[in-house]
Amino acid sequence: MANKKRDNWGSRLGIIMAVAGSAVGLGNFLRFPAKAASNGGGAFMIPYFISLLLLGIPLMWIEWTLGRYGGGFEHGTAPGIFHSIWQKNRFIKYFGVIGIFGPLVIFIYYTYIESWTLAYSFFALFGKYTKLADQASMQAFLRGFQGLENNRYFNGLGAAYIFFLVTFILNFVVIYHGIKGGIERFCKWAMPLLFVFGLLLFIRVLTLGAPDPARPDWNILNGFGFLWNPDFSALRSAKVWLEAAGQIFFTLSVGIGVILTYASYLSKGDDVALSGLTAASTNELAEVILGASIIIPAAFVFFGPVEIQTIARSGVFNLGFVTMPLVLNKLPLAQFLGFIWFFLLFLAGITSSVSLAQPAVAFLEDEFDISRKKAVFIFGAATFLLCQAAVFFLKHGVVDELDFWGGTFFLVVFATIETILFAWVFGIQKAWDEIHKGADMRIPGIYKFIIKYITPLFLFAILGMWFKQEWLPIIFMKGVSPADRVYILATRLGLAGIFLVLAVLVKIAWRKKRLIMENIR
Ligand code: ALA
Repeated sequence: MANKKRDNWGSRLGIIMAVAGSAVGLGNFLRFPAKAASNGGGAFMIPYFISLLLLGIPLMWIEWTLGRYGGGFEHGTAPGIFHSIWQKNRFIKYFGVIGIFGPLVIFIYYTYIESWTLAYSFFALFGKYTKLADQASMQAFLRGFQGLENNRYFNGLGAAYIFFLVTFILNFVVIYHGIKGGIERFCKWAMPLLFVFGLLLFIRVLTLGAPDPARPDWNILNGFGFLWNPDFSALRSAKVWLEAAGQIFFTLSVGIGVILTYASYLSKGDDVALSGLTAASTNELAEVILGASIIIPAAFVFFGPVEIQTIARSGVFNLGFVTMPLVLNKLPLAQFLGFIWFFLLFLAGITSSVSLAQPAVAFLEDEFDISRKKAVFIFGAATFLLCQAAVFFLKHGVVDELDFWGGTFFLVVFATIETILFAWVFGIQKAWDEIHKGADMRIPGIYKFIIKYITPLFLFAILGMWFKQEWLPIIFMKGVSPADRVYILATRLGLAGIFLVLAVLVKIAWRKKRLIMENIR
């Protein structure tokens, strides 16, 4: 159907940088420390690593392989890829809609949060918050900026909106230039720079010692111990398992749909086994070495083991936007260090958000045969409108709601569908051969068993536990204030609307294709 040539990657390094760029994001530097600290540090790490081995890495391989396979049929998104795998099933393409819907929904709030990091880079550089020395004022600064209250720092959403516009346009420019000319070119310099910034902060944190002589226990070594001393008793807590598995999905960008799309621009003989593993390892390096070694130990030496958990539990952004700037304010070169921290976050964010945009753009290009530029404009206009909900209704819980559906729930559902399709419908032997086409490494044979049995069982267990523990209260909006209910309801209806529109587009695209095929015959 597609008359034009699909875009492709320029080099092996390029795609690894791009997938690593997609994976390394705000999840590594903001979400991971918050999840680890609020779940007691060491208690979190065992379920985290088990989830990495049994879910994260298998899903990386599954998505790289399915993506490359689908690309061979000129399909870069899940509806087409799923259909190529299970051609007899008329409905499977509609399950694939999740692989466009999920990243689109995450994009809506992710770019807004990303814009805060750009704003804070400027605030740090120009010393706008450097004089603030306690949690309460830094918290007020953040709340003022987010438009949650008017105070002496901010009045209204003006500043936040300007940075949102700049961030949105930057994303747009990168996506507009395509896979090789935009995303790959950008990630090839942004990722190394991100690592340099991360290393600088890492070294700075290592040299903190024990800044408060009255509390020698609050030292850097114990800061690391907080995260790395395992707590086996926590293995019995379902909540810790769920949070650890959820973090693995989010951080590796698996179960979202973006890796499928990125991998669809590979050629048939390109390696996916080693590349997938390399991208996952790069992400883990950024998460457990850099992400874990900056905020947590730094906050530990200044605030201690109890306070750090309280801060982390009080909101996912507090460690990053309140505690971290406070810590850096206490050090020499505070403005510079603050800039490095927030710009690192910005680079991590934008290399991820461009990947979140790609499935929807690829869908329009591949299935409707329209030009990339036109597809990017349609995507830009639609998401610009949708982003307004995140910007203006943050205080009513809209971002959290979008994150639950787009960034948590559907990830696990989508991953389950992919795994079943790959291991059971495509068939594990065929799947295994497909992974190893052009492969630069042999995957240990045990993973054949893991992908066929363990990963799906693990996924079903997560879905089951969630259903019991979280979904019902969420569905019935337990704990949502009466004033916010209408916003949450509107968000849900909006999400259902987006899903429906995408499903109808899939229907139209397939009908068009069928008519073309019939005409050819
Ligand atoms: N994987 C991306 C992140 O960690 C979405 O932020």
